Amino acid sequence: MASPGQKVVLITGCSSGIGLRMAVILAKDERKPYHVIATMRDLKRKDKLVEAAGDAYGKTLSLAVLDVCSDESVKQCINGIKGRHVDVLINNAGIGLVGPVESISIEEMKKVFETNFFGVIRMIKEVMPDMKKRKGGHIIVVSSVMGLQGVVFNDVYAASKFAMEGFCESLAVQLLKFNVILSLIEPGPVHTEFEAKMIQEVKQKECPGADPETVHYFKNVYLTSSLNIFEILGQTPDDIARCTKKVIEASKPRFRNLTNPLYSPIVALKYADETGGLSVRAFYHMLFNLGPLMHASITTMKCLTCGCLRSRAVSPN
Ligand SMILES: NC(=O)c1ccc[n+]([C@@H]2O[C@H](COP(=O)([O-])OP(=O)(O)OC[C@H]3O[C@@H](n4cnc5c(N)ncnc54)[C@H](OP(=O)(O)O)[C@@H]3O)[C@@H](O)[C@H]2O)c1
Repeated sequence: MASPGQKVVLITGCSSGIGLRMAVILAKDERKPYHVIATMRDLKRKDKLVEAAGDAYGKTLSLAVLDVCSDESVKQCINGIKGRHVDVLINNAGIGLVGPVESISIEEMKKVFETNFFGVIRMIKEVMPDMKKRKGGHIIVVSSVMGLQGVVFNDVYAASKFAMEGFCESLAVQLLKFNVILSLIEPGPVHTEFEAKMIQEVKQKECPGADPETVHYFKNVYLTSSLNIFEILGQTPDDIARCTKKVIEASKPRFRNLTNPLYSPIVALKYADETGGLSVRAFYHMLFNLGPLMHASITTMKCLTCGCLRSRAVSPN
């Protein structure tokens, strides 16, 4: 239970990756300003978190079951919190989906929206009314660079994050009237199970319904460049957790928070040309015409930076 003066922070999807590191970093703050309710849909997956939390477990960090896809689970979790009081809600739980659209069933697509879009809305609907009554609170949504810029073969995942961005952009205005802050965290690639699950998925995918040429572009062109990008530009879950902590602790939290400054030019490119042609053509050339050149530049960057870009990339700053 939270001590007087402690902020209650509820995080979804804490069994691995970004959510796990957010929970640990906030709970281990030596000033003990937070009581973290780290939630996950299956408590059998709690061991990594409990181990990483160490002494904080049972003190500044407690566990709760929460499946963002279930109304009942969300209600039960929030009702179990003293006074239903949540100061900071971090919507982190999310799933990815890659592949040619022809080979993905509508059911699979709905699952992505059910988790990444409706899952967040379900959480916000449950927590927001109390925040509005109290005239205070902070809602954080882990979006993605792909919520701002679509990426080939990530069509449905990007759509789910775009949808979230639109939802948040609209809601943030109303919430400001109630002194409730809404912030988006927009990471580029991050080394988590997300990446491992993607590679596994691509390797296993037979891509029924997609023609051989498309499957070739997906498996041989997209996957190679995607792995390179992850290797060179990928941040760690700790980077994202530290960035989120800064957003929570800022005197005036920003609405949009790209965690990786290397992605700012990509977003700028999009807004520099309102016809959209510039970014569509740039991505086309990068993937299909500059494949070997891109590989060479990424390798050069790797040699030049030796990882220092990664340590410089803990923003927002
Ligand atoms: N990794 C990246 O490159 C990257 C980049 C940009 C944005 N993001 C975003 O960052 C967030 C966290 O992803 P991650 O990289 O940390 O991946 P991850 O390691 O796969 O973690 C995802 C977490 O979400 C949980 N989850 C999935 N469905 C859920 C549900 N229905 N209810 C509750 N929890 C659920 C997973 O729980 P289980 O263990 O039960 O599956 C897991 O704890 C996601 O929103 C993702 O879109 C990731």
